[in-house]
Amino acid sequence: MEKHLQVSAIKDGTVIDHIPTKALFKVIKILKLEKCSQMVTFGNNLDSKAMGAKAIIKVANRFFADEEVNKIALVAPNAKLNTIRDYEVIEKRVVETPKEIVGIVHCFNPKCITNAENITTRFEVISNKPIAMKCFYCEKITNEKELVFY
Ligand code: CTP
Ligand code: ZN
Repeated sequence: MEKHLQVSAIKDGTVIDHIPTKALFKVIKILKLEKCSQMVTFGNNLDSKAMGAKAIIKVANRFFADEEVNKIALVAPNAKLNTIRDYEVIEKRVVETPKEIVGIVHCFNPKCITNAENITTRFEVISNKPIAMKCFYCEKITNEKELVFY
């Protein structure tokens, strides 16, 4: 059977696959893809056997460092990164939750200095599933269900 891709194959670059549909635009923002000058294609609400529906992002001629892709762990912990060279998948990587999260989410504590002044948030991840993060500034814990993204 001929396989028809819903988002065209790329020659060289990175395919970020198995993104939860509600995380697509957060991943775009976290990786700053709105500022990327390379070809970026994406699809949302695509059929997935494993997830029911999924999103996918393809970035031509970009190869992400681990610490860059790990930033998406908060919203797409099960995403798969495929490195493409000359149309072939030459590497597959999974996302790992980083030990430290800098400037992606707000601190849950309304009295935290990061909510009063223009200070980039910084957290230590103290638990993975579900996520719990301790604020570097006020030491209060922000839990997964309380995550508010910038
Ligand atoms: N892909 C692409 N361009 C290419 C090669 C692959 O856009 N030149 C995409 C495929 O469409 C797929 C992803 O990269 O979404 C991974 O490709 P592949 O490993 O061939 O697909 P699967 O076996 O389905 O991967 P997995 O089971 O890991 O999801
Ligand atoms: Zn705080």
